Amino acid sequence: MGRRVTRPVALLAGMRDFHRRPELSSGFGGPFNGQTRRLEAITALFDELQPERVVETGSYRGTTTEWFGQRDVPVDTIEINWRLFGYAWARFRRDPLVTVHRSDSRAELQDLARRLDTTRCCFFYLDAHWHEELPTREEIEIIASRWEQPIIVIDDCKVPWDDGYGFDDYGSAGLVSVELFPELPGWSVFFPSTPHTEETGARRGCALIVPPALASRVGALDDWRAA
Ligand SMILES: C[S@@+](CC[C@H](N)C(=O)[O-])C[C@H]1O[C@@H](n2cnc3c(N)ncnc32)[C@H](O)[C@@H]1O
Repeated sequence: MGRRVTRPVALLAGMRDFHRRPELSSGFGGPFNGQTRRLEAITALFDELQPERVVETGSYRGTTTEWFGQRDVPVDTIEINWRLFGYAWARFRRDPLVTVHRSDSRAELQDLARRLDTTRCCFFYLDAHWHEELPTREEIEIIASRWEQPIIVIDDCKVPWDDGYGFDDYGSAGLVSVELFPELPGWSVFFPSTPHTEETGARRGCALIVPPALASRVGALDDWRAA
């Protein structure tokens, strides 16, 4: 079966999944992998920095997307897999704030940078690491070179001082860890200050990167600890 046939079939299967299998909608145990402390830490970031838009790479079934949509800001979420795109598209088709893009995250970030006002504060949730390739480094490079006030959170990242947090390891493609990030002179990297023992859900690690203009305000938040 050729690509022209499989894509619509996968898309329709994803839409059908949404209608017939509501149990799939909670994704990895709820927004942010079911992690209560992460949710509080991200909420604190929103309250302090008031981002005007959200871009998520890796929609999966839209569980975390839905939480972002409830913050009352426009959300762009990007999914490469046609079936998962079909699911997320069906989930948000009546939500005027959420746009689901079927694309590779890097291509779509470049496109969004051309179309959006990149001087505004934008929250990026980078969660598109799943397949053999690891787009995270390029995603960060695109965002840092195009947006003036990005808040970049990378899911599944190794927390240097707490091995109890899970992280992704792609073998020869690399670990999701601070070593993977591009050189960004003057930018700050933070990790959760909460020990993994106080976290709930899947207890995945994460990292937060911000440009110099936002660093002191993030540094004042209890939930985040500078690297
Ligand atoms: C861990 S899941 C995302 C979970 C979702 N953010 C949530 O919190 O429920 C990773 C998703 O990224 C997608 N993905 C992987 N590589 C991608 C890429 N290069 N561009 C866009 N999506 C990608 C996968 O198909 C998968 O659905």
